[in-house]
Amino acid sequence: MYHLTPETPADHWEVEALYDTCFAPGREALSSYRLRDDVPPVQGLSHVARDDEGILAGAIRYWPVRIGSDAALLLGPVAVHPTRQGEGIGRALIEQSLDRAPLMVWTRVLLVGDAPYYNRFGFELLKDVIMPPPTNPERVLGRALIPGAWDGVAGEVRRWAD
Ligand SMILES: CC(C)(COP(=O)(O)OP(=O)(O)OC[C@H]1O[C@@H](n2cnc3c(N)ncnc32)[C@H](O)[C@@H]1OP(=O)(O)O)[C@@H](O)C(=O)NCCC(=O)NCCS
Repeated sequence: MYHLTPETPADHWEVEALYDTCFAPGREALSSYRLRDDVPPVQGLSHVARDDEGILAGAIRYWPVRIGSDAALLLGPVAVHPTRQGEGIGRALIEQSLDRAPLMVWTRVLLVGDAPYYNRFGFELLKDVIMPPPTNPERVLGRALIPGAWDGVAGEVRRWAD
């Protein structure tokens, strides 16, 4: 049994350690991380999954970004500890957090990831949205949280604070 709760400051370093375990070394050198520099994650949407004993099993974070004058959520990183993968924790983290996003006035979400995994959650290729190079454009995926939310949204993804 896993319990999903919004991430708090007390979770921070444990989540960092989980991401270090789940991703290749140097993950923070990825260009998508430049969109997160000096910008706090979205409070209330970033979540942790813990087991009955309180051991961290998975985590998801979100950042705000801009595309032109439009706001969007950047989903990620999302990761599940290697010993807990395939139990539906990734699905639960993504679906439960995204269920909350429209209540917080967010209308669209994007990510950089594997389409074969994210298609099942309604993410599709964003042809007109450009992540900082050298991101593979085939991995830039988005989901509208209200119908049509990505219509007409195009251009470079920028840091929220720029
Ligand atoms: C991707 C990840 C978050 C999924 O978490 P999870 O809890 O294992 O996912 P779920 O249990 O909800 O779903 C498992 C299903 O997703 C599939 N899946 C996992 N990663 C996948 C990928 N990269 N591409 C396609 N399918 C994938 C599994 O094969 C499994 O399929 P099945 O349901 O047909 O058996 C987890 O594998 C992970 O942390 N990976 C390392 C970090 C990472 O790559 N994060 C995502 C960045 S894009």
